[in-house]
Formats: sequence, C-alpha cells, structure tokens
Amino acid sequence: MLIEKNFSLKNHNTFGIDVKAKAFVSVESLEDLKAALNTSSYENKFILGGGSNMLLTKNVDALVIHINLKGKEVVNQTKDEVHVKAYAGENWHEFVVWCIEQNFGGIENLSLIPGSVGATPIQNIGAYGVEIKDVFISCDALNVKTGNIKTFFNEECQFGYRESVFKQDLKNLYIILSVTFKLTFKNHHIKTNYGAITTELERFNIENPTIKDVSKAVIAIRESKLPNPKEIGNSGSFFKNPIIKKSHYLKLLENFPEIPHYAVSESEVKVPAGWLIEHAGFKGKTFKNYGVHNKQALVLVNYGDASGNDILNLANLIQHTINRLFGIQIEMEVNVF
Ligand code: EPU
Repeated sequence: MLIEKNFSLKNHNTFGIDVKAKAFVSVESLEDLKAALNTSSYENKFILGGGSNMLLTKNVDALVIHINLKGKEVVNQTKDEVHVKAYAGENWHEFVVWCIEQNFGGIENLSLIPGSVGATPIQNIGAYGVEIKDVFISCDALNVKTGNIKTFFNEECQFGYRESVFKQDLKNLYIILSVTFKLTFKNHHIKTNYGAITTELERFNIENPTIKDVSKAVIAIRESKLPNPKEIGNSGSFFKNPIIKKSHYLKLLENFPEIPHYAVSESEVKVPAGWLIEHAGFKGKTFKNYGVHNKQALVLVNYGDASGNDILNLANLIQHTINRLFGIQIEMEVNVF
C-alpha cells in the first residue's frame, strides 16, 4: 500500500481542480482499505470515488483514500433476471457497456454518466427516465467506526431524487464496497419515454430498439449537450431541479408562459434549473477560465486552471439571481469541500 504525500488531486476530480491532498492512497482490497482507515499517521480520512460529483475549494488536510476495488460477477439468476454484483471502484460507464455486451438490460439509459459504481447509490444517479433505485437490489458497505460490513437493501437506502440515506443520516459513516443490481437477460423493459430518446431513435430510423440502440441514443444526446470531463472540467448537473408549490408555478406562468414543468404531486411541480439559469442570462457566460456551459446551463465548467472558489462564487451568484428573479432557491447537487 503506497501512501503518497502532498499529492495533487487534479486527475482525481472531473472538474480538474488542482488542490493537494496531505496524503493519498489507492486501495484495491478490503484489507488495504481497513489498513488505510486504521493508520494513525493521519487523523483525518477522506473517501474518494470517481471524483465526478465534487467541487474542491481548498487543499485536503487528510489522508485521501481512493476506493479502487475492482470486479464484477453474476451472483444469481432467476427466471427473468440476473443479479450482478459490481465492486465500488469499477468505472460506471465501463460497467454499463459490459452489461450491454452480456445482453443484461436495465441500465442502458444511464450510459456515459461519469463516476464509479460505488457512488451510484449515494445520490441515486438518474438520467433519461431511469434511476439507480429501479435496478438496485443491495449494497455492501463498511462501517468506518465499527469495521463491520452491512448489507443495505433497497428500502433501507431511502432513495429519492438525487438522494439516499448515505447523504443524510448515515453521511460519512459507511463506505460502499459493492453494489448488486437486478438486470434482465430477456424481455428487456426498453424505456424510450424521454422525448429526446424517441427523437434520436427516429433519426437513426430504429423502430424496435435493443438495449444497445437505447445506449447509443443516450450517448448521442449526452455528447451533444454535456461537455466531456476529459476535455472540459465539469461535474454534470451542478444544481438539482427545484420542486416548487403549484401555486408558485402558476404565478410564474403569468410572466413566463413558456416555463417547462413536470408534475410531482397534486400540489407540487418540478421546474428545470437549466431553464431558469438560461433565462437569468447565464447560459454560455464565461468569466476568465470558467463559466456556464453553452449547451446546457445546468453545467458549470472549468476551461483551464480555475479554482474551486471561482466556481463556487459563480454558483452562489447564480443561486442569488434565480432567487431574485423567480423566488426559487436552487440547491447544489455537487458536494463542495
Ligand atoms: N433547459 C433549458 N436550458 C438549458 C438546459 C435545459 O431551457 O440550458 C430546459 C430544456 O429545454 C428542457 C428542460 O430544461 O425543457 C430539461 O432539460 P434536460 O432534458 O437537458 O434535463 P435536465 O433536467 O436539465 C436532468 C438531470 C441530468 C440528466 C437529464 C436527462 C438533474 C439535476 N439533472 O437534467 O443529470 O442527464 O435530466 O435525464 O436532475 C446529472 O445529474 O449530472 C445530470 C446530467
């Protein structure tokens, strides 16, 4: 187990922010993970997965433990489903591609989402009509205080929109080691309800799409509006789409008749933060070497060597402006450190 001191985290966060960790170790086994957690040389420990949902604003005064547990296997098969266990350090998109190659369906709509398998339940990742909770059976997680491993089943994770118990009551208490998904190996439930997927499939002239076709369509949509973090630093959606009272929405309609919305309940609607940010005039705005993406206003970008604080200040300015213009408080989706 190699512990490196004064280690740059630039290549370990998709925003590409260049801050230093006091020390860094990449763990490939449970044994190494436990040893890293128990090391007394560094009091503070900081758990890092794919680094795709975080904004680093300062040096990390801790031993950063990069979860690099690898492996994937079929652990069970029923009449209609396979249960596939993947270890936390597997790259999410590579796992999706592998599943499609095996003809395992259920996560094709989640193609090309950056990050690692272990992070997927924490914020219940979702895109194009599918969320992790739809295919999640359980995850094994290590309690950092007791060293015990607990299996969390779907209900216990209290999944919500970009939410789970791991972001709430159990925050920082568990490290996810592996996740088990239920996937189909025949009679796939193809989900093409999301408008953009239908349009994309029509463009390819595909009438009866396979899981591979859906994945291709999702990849094409994402590539057309989301910047590739390997080229431009970003963290996907920076904010969550806010849920507001229907009465509030009706009032907004008077001034903004074209505001999009999705019904959440009888009394609440969700409005796209991307629309609000665009209509507040921020879309495509560039400040020095950072800004708001020109194709999807929900994405903040680092064009070069911006600092985490530059981006955080921009995020705060956007929040205040949206509040002033629309009376809506938008919440950050990324974790700020
Ligand atoms: N919109 C604008 N301007 C923009 C961006 C969006 O007007 O600059 C409008 C669009 O016209 C559309 C609506 O907002 O009417 C929704 O846009 P889009 O389909 O691009 O999705 P989103 O709500 O902005 C969410 C997720 C994405 C996910 C997509 C597709 C959140 C916070 N974001 O974005 O997730 O890929 O739906 O399902 O829920 C992520 O979490 O990192 C992420 C990329």
